[in-house]
Amino acid sequence: MEHLLIPEGAKEERYQALLPQVEALLEGEADMIARMANMAAALHEAFHFWWTGFYRVVGDELVLGPFQGPIACTRIRRGRGVCGTAWERQETQVVPDVEQFPGHIACSSASRSEIVVPVFADGRVVAVLDIDSEHLATFDDTDRRWLERMAERIVLRQAKRQSRAHNSSTSESAEPSA
Ligand code: SME
Repeated sequence: MEHLLIPEGAKEERYQALLPQVEALLEGEADMIARMANMAAALHEAFHFWWTGFYRVVGDELVLGPFQGPIACTRIRRGRGVCGTAWERQETQVVPDVEQFPGHIACSSASRSEIVVPVFADGRVVAVLDIDSEHLATFDDTDRRWLERMAERIVLRQAKRQSRAHNSSTSESAEPSA
């Protein structure tokens, strides 16, 4: 696949068209960073967001992963900013106005609204998908639902099984080798 085919129109239809194309893009690729890279690029191209990317959980911090858009902060502590909050609470954060979010980390002053979706493996957050918009209130429940489905595609089912098997024989595993 060389180009995405995304219809003009409501975001519901756009996500609906995008999801199977992203699944096709990811098919056969087991490396989690490669999967994140193409998903970030596809979302960014389809919706023309300001910033679209991933932070991975590495030890007690989030570390910048594959992204599209302007340069960004490289490390975020648990509970800090929108990303660290999504990680700590293990739930999607939809922020209509970043200036109203206590502790928001302004990687770019152009960012006005934001959504951060956790990526789970075996019930634990292993990364977050962070999307920023230069407009207020860009994200709503439609984005939350579809982006949560997207984020579920980052960790392979097979990797989840391997990780479960690994976790039952060892105490901790920071991240599955998706
Ligand atoms: N605004 C985010 C930081 C990451 S950048 O937006 C890319 C936050 O508050 O966690």
